[in-house]
Amino acid sequence: MSTFDEAVTALDAAAAGPLDRFALASTARDQVEGWVNGAQVLTLLTTLRDRGWTQFLLERRTPAELEEFSGLPSGRVADILVVLEAHGIVAQADGHVQLSASFEALAAADAWIGLDDLLDRSELMSRLTRTAAEEPGPLPLSEPDALVIARAAGGAAGAVTKALYEQIFVPQLPELSEALKAGAWLDVGCGVACATLTLSSMFPEMEGVAIELVPTVAAETVRRAEAFGVTDRIDIRVMDARELDEPDRFAGAFWAQPFFPEQTRAETLAMLLRSLKPGGVLFIQEMEPQPDEAERAAYTLRRLISEGWGVPFGRTAEQLADEAKAAGFAIDRIAQTDFGRLVVASRPA
Ligand SMILES: C[S@@+](CC[C@H](N)C(=O)[O-])C[C@H]1O[C@@H](n2cnc3c(N)ncnc32)[C@H](O)[C@@H]1O
Repeated sequence: MSTFDEAVTALDAAAAGPLDRFALASTARDQVEGWVNGAQVLTLLTTLRDRGWTQFLLERRTPAELEEFSGLPSGRVADILVVLEAHGIVAQADGHVQLSASFEALAAADAWIGLDDLLDRSELMSRLTRTAAEEPGPLPLSEPDALVIARAAGGAAGAVTKALYEQIFVPQLPELSEALKAGAWLDVGCGVACATLTLSSMFPEMEGVAIELVPTVAAETVRRAEAFGVTDRIDIRVMDARELDEPDRFAGAFWAQPFFPEQTRAETLAMLLRSLKPGGVLFIQEMEPQPDEAERAAYTLRRLISEGWGVPFGRTAEQLADEAKAAGFAIDRIAQTDFGRLVVASRPA
């Protein structure tokens, strides 16, 4: 309880009216000040990232090197470093400065979902939140915006992601390796195909098709697949997934359901059912489980944007299982993993 709250509580109710209101306003003001601090440090970090600081500070630097790099005077650089250190972004010792261990891991090239992905998504979400409050229609999403979303949702396939998949995700979902060994793989709404590219590096025999609707996103996915050297095994197609016409081909499939608008879902599931072989397995991820009290506020913000895009938000694994069942799938189980819950469904034999 704040000093003002205590003062108000101590006073007799009749006399406390105006002070009560002062205490109430203080509570709200403290809340706003907390948001202001977060917004300000986010603005600082994003601006410094745009100006190259976060890459520059992957290595130990002296303040003098930073002054030369940034073109800012020594006093300003020192003040910025104090802010960054106070927020756990950099560490200073022996006349040198560097990103803190956790920010180094986040900004480094091998991060799963990296600092750039997060900051770009944060900027996009701020813009869309403003639009949601101003405009009555659906929220616009340009192709570059779709790429920002895909990068932050999927992350980058690399050494860290591979270790996560090898040591945690794949062992927790044995149906996945069974499907990958049994035949072709289908990734529906692949985005930047982090999952498919990571799996392709783990299973050399894996081959399949990854489908993405947005050309700018698919171009980045092709670039990443080329860097992985798997374009001979993973066929990235730019198309509406509903139009895939390769019946009875695939042994396993993943559906990025949170990104599919309501009016496309039944047809997408019908395509998945016909594309899988009898007995083929479909994985559907629950993206937004019911939040606990601590998570509820952030959940409402994500919901505001998703609903603005016309995609159903917060569908639970049980609801997703019902959706797949209505499309003709058999529900094998709801799997609990460290990456959340997935519905494991299969095409009836
Ligand atoms: C953000 S990605 C999901 C991340 C991905 N699972 C990964 O591992 O990187 C989902 C993608 O589904 C795509 N999508 C939505 N509707 C689609 C459709 N009808 N056909 C093909 N792709 C679609 C969106 O463009 C979006 O890029």
